[in-house]
Amino acid sequence: MPDITLTTLQSLKLKGEKITMLTCYDATFAQAASQAGVEVLLVGDSLGMVLQGHDSTLPVTTAEMAYHVASVKRGNEGALILADLPFMAYATTDQAFVNSATLMQAGAHMVKIEGAAWLAETVRLLAERGIPVCAHMGLTPQAVNILGGYKVQGRQEAQARQMRADAIALEQAGAAMLLLECVPSELAAEITQAVKIPVIGIGAGSAADGQVLVLHDMLGLSLSGRVPKFVKNFMAGQADIPSALRAYVNEVKAVTFPGIEHGFSA
Ligand code: KIV
Repeated sequence: MPDITLTTLQSLKLKGEKITMLTCYDATFAQAASQAGVEVLLVGDSLGMVLQGHDSTLPVTTAEMAYHVASVKRGNEGALILADLPFMAYATTDQAFVNSATLMQAGAHMVKIEGAAWLAETVRLLAERGIPVCAHMGLTPQAVNILGGYKVQGRQEAQARQMRADAIALEQAGAAMLLLECVPSELAAEITQAVKIPVIGIGAGSAADGQVLVLHDMLGLSLSGRVPKFVKNFMAGQADIPSALRAYVNEVKAVTFPGIEHGFSA
């Protein structure tokens, strides 16, 4: 059991204190980030892009995710470990069971799946069997070929209405957390108000209950040279990586990050 549990995250939401999350893929960074006060370490399938050099997250396998979860577990000092189920690892509920069990046995405390209300049955079945689920909505990178690129989602009113309804359906199905990526700040604020579970944002404004960034992005490293609008380089002005990690935690807690310039309008 980590020091940070779902109960901790729920009470942070109730108190109005922001939750800090960063992606993390190895033991050394897990130790540094958890020591800096990052509450949730996300072993994201973004590792397919930032570690493996692919142009999307699609090639990542469950075995690769399990390897990185186990590495993060060995360095972690008390943070909650959230692990992505990669592309096609939850296409059926049977696959979701088997692959979630692999990640939980490797050291994850919660799994993340990308989608919308169509995931409700999977969320319910996993939660009933002791596996907490974070539902990732908005820009879902595993669906990049359907979405036609890495674009802001929920700008049209019909899409926004659907996203609000999906968030409530996923909470009712037993989701423990929501993650909103690249959605207009006002819509993210409405969804955060509408559900009791913590909502974490990336490119979703400052009203979400917490923030996440990709570790390499916030350390100013970019393989492609393209830096998304919602990223801030926390290495700027800092002497070392532990200081940059602490600066991220402090700015999220103080609600000075993200600024208006890091968000999207409808
Ligand atoms: O895989 C990942 O790193 C993610 C974040 C972008 C939220 O899902």
